[in-house]
Amino acid sequence: MSTPAHVPVLLDRVVALVAPALVRPGSVLIDATLGLGGHSEAILARCPEAHVVGVDRDPHALELAGRRLAPFAERITLVHAVYDEIPRVLADLGIDAVDGVLFDLGVSSMQLDVRERGFAYAEDAPLDMRMDDSRGPTAADVLNTYDAAELARILREYGEERFARQLARAIVRRRDSRPFDRSADLVELLREVIPAPARRTGGHPAKRTFQALRIEVNDELGVLSRAVPAALDSVGVGGRVAVMSYHSLEDRLVKRAFAARTRNRVPEDLPVVPAGLGPEFAPLTRGAEKASPEEISENPRAASVRLRAVVREEAA
Ligand SMILES: C[S@@+](CC[C@H](N)C(=O)[O-])C[C@H]1O[C@@H](n2cnc3c(N)ncnc32)[C@H](O)[C@@H]1O
Repeated sequence: MSTPAHVPVLLDRVVALVAPALVRPGSVLIDATLGLGGHSEAILARCPEAHVVGVDRDPHALELAGRRLAPFAERITLVHAVYDEIPRVLADLGIDAVDGVLFDLGVSSMQLDVRERGFAYAEDAPLDMRMDDSRGPTAADVLNTYDAAELARILREYGEERFARQLARAIVRRRDSRPFDRSADLVELLREVIPAPARRTGGHPAKRTFQALRIEVNDELGVLSRAVPAALDSVGVGGRVAVMSYHSLEDRLVKRAFAARTRNRVPEDLPVVPAGLGPEFAPLTRGAEKASPEEISENPRAASVRLRAVVREEAA
């Protein structure tokens, strides 16, 4: 039996949101964050006409998902890519428009479980945090090379850390004598710098810093801000885009990207909306949907999820 951490978040709701777009033979869903393939597996099982293009920047995830989805091998295409590369991926596959795109943002339970990848702050591990561990700078590289102003900005903007400036200065001081290598070194420094009263109230002192480093190492917000509009562009009429976010920075970005395309494209004072200028997309969720208390009690990862989805309207 799988552990609760491996249960896909909002599984039934997500399938219900995308399935109506996947009834036509040959319909295509892009799973932009394939992970362990849990959402894709359910979609392939419940939508027998659907083909899934499964994208992940983590080669290990693709390998594991490939094994899990072997029973559906004829209806899946696995692609190693960052999700802002989806337009190129579709062009390479000769696909003009797709019927659905699903994003389940963040790290997978597999990435959190493999200690050496350095995503979990509770255990001492190398400061890595790359979702694609075959390329790019690590969290240690960020800590050892960025100047204090850049570090402070990252900690403040991506970690919403109140002590960003003090932490950045302490990081720069400390690395001069001993470069950062392991997460325990960083956790120790955070304990020293963050005052005790703030440590008692703000959750684990490393939570915000680790979130900030992970976002920076993987350029998560930059990639997402390009990928959501591109996903909207890639779906045809009736096509659906669903995004599950896990922190407010991601959710805000998704909310704005959806809002820009669910508005009328005419000046507000015009009494009628001319043909063809109505909204391109209609919302399928009212605001952001959350998981039920029952799901959260079984799957703690569901506690922070915010799900938004839209459908492309008929051209008026
Ligand atoms: C939360 S998991 C997805 C879990 C999946 N829905 C399931 O049911 O197993 C997120 C996955 O997205 C991948 N990922 C995160 N950001 C990505 C990006 N920018 N491009 C491609 N894959 C990304 C991660 O490597 C991870 O495997």
